[in-house]
Amino acid sequence: MSKSILITGGAGFIGSHVVRLFVTKYPQYTIVNLDALTYAGNLENLRDVEKAPNYRFEKVNILDADAIEQVFEKHGITDVIHLAAESHVDRSIHSPLDFVYTNIIGTVNLLNTAKNRWKGNYGHHRFHHVSTDEVFGSLGAEGFFTETTPYAPNSPYSASKAGSDHFVRAYGETYGLGYVLTNCSNNYGPNHFPEKLIPLFINNIIERKPLPVYGDGKYTRDWLFVIDHATAIDTVFHNGKNHDSYNVGGFNEWQNIDLVKLLCSIMDKKLNRAEGESAQLITYVKDRPGHDLRYAIDASKINMELGWSPSVTFEQGLEITIDWFLNNSEWLANVTSGNYQQYYQKQYAQ
Ligand code: NAD
Ligand code: DAU
Repeated sequence: MSKSILITGGAGFIGSHVVRLFVTKYPQYTIVNLDALTYAGNLENLRDVEKAPNYRFEKVNILDADAIEQVFEKHGITDVIHLAAESHVDRSIHSPLDFVYTNIIGTVNLLNTAKNRWKGNYGHHRFHHVSTDEVFGSLGAEGFFTETTPYAPNSPYSASKAGSDHFVRAYGETYGLGYVLTNCSNNYGPNHFPEKLIPLFINNIIERKPLPVYGDGKYTRDWLFVIDHATAIDTVFHNGKNHDSYNVGGFNEWQNIDLVKLLCSIMDKKLNRAEGESAQLITYVKDRPGHDLRYAIDASKINMELGWSPSVTFEQGLEITIDWFLNNSEWLANVTSGNYQQYYQKQYAQ
């Protein structure tokens, strides 16, 4: 069946991989990428698909309700996959309101338009909200987040994502809007903006700059290759149960310090440096306030109900990622110029 799918945040890290997957895998669909092109949005991420006959781009801010209406009207939008968000925890600590605006009000703007335009026909349309495991808060040393874990967000970022999740669910319950929700663990891969741990540290290793490890480095994250997140979204969008949520993750937990040491060791080989050279850049810095100790996703539901599982091991994914950054130095230079430097000074000034 032909669809006209609005993918929000398609110029960002994960969104660009979702756009590429849908544009190439589903030539019968029209894919409309709606993105405000904030500091995190970059059309360079989509150069290889921008001329595809089924791809469209709309530079729109999701805070602009009228502009969203016009995009729905112009492209006859049948479905939404919503990724546009402010996504970095550290920035949310500096500027919480930006996260309230985009992540909550922006999401409600999209929900309102979908509700009004699809009224009377909700069974034929789907709003897929892409969310995070951070809404569940922090785990201790044991256990996993499941779909029924109570929400307990700790950062302004995760609180704003939790708020958006609740609004999506409420529009389903109150108005009958068709929706699915995915809560994913930490992604990594090509096009990752170098404010997040893995791409930041790859960039700093290349430039021989300090690697700022927060606190004691014993915090744990569950890492998933971004293309596997995109296939999970594809799977849930097409086959997920209406009004249901799915946790997405790779059963791949790493303490930050172990991950950083692995990264240093691989980079030493790739850059023909002596073993141990990059690890000397590791610098312990003051901790992130409200730092969640551990995230770990139980991804059995999406695996058992929908047959999804990751396609690469962490070692394979990391290799692809590091090679991508080493081969795309121009991309890295472009995104780390300008405002990036100001952000860096503010975040890492001791
Ligand atoms: P990102 O920061 O790389 O990209 C966000 C995109 O949204 C950018 O292209 C930006 O221009 C756009 N955007 C921001 N504000 C906007 C606005 N007001 N109007 C229109 N567009 C706007 O983010 P990401 O890491 O790709 O994350 C995408 C989504 O996935 C987010 O909703 C995030 O919460 C979720 N998520 C991310 C991860 C992760 O590890 N990165 C894990 C789980 C879930
Ligand atoms: O779990 C999913 C979430 O993963 C997503 O919802 C977020 O959008 C995404 O940014 C990510 O959040 P994290 O806060 O876990 O990712 P980040 O890369 O910022 O940090 C990963 C870990 O590394 C975390 O424990 C903090 C630590 N860290 C991070 C940075 C940037 C450092 O020690 N030093 C750093 O400089």
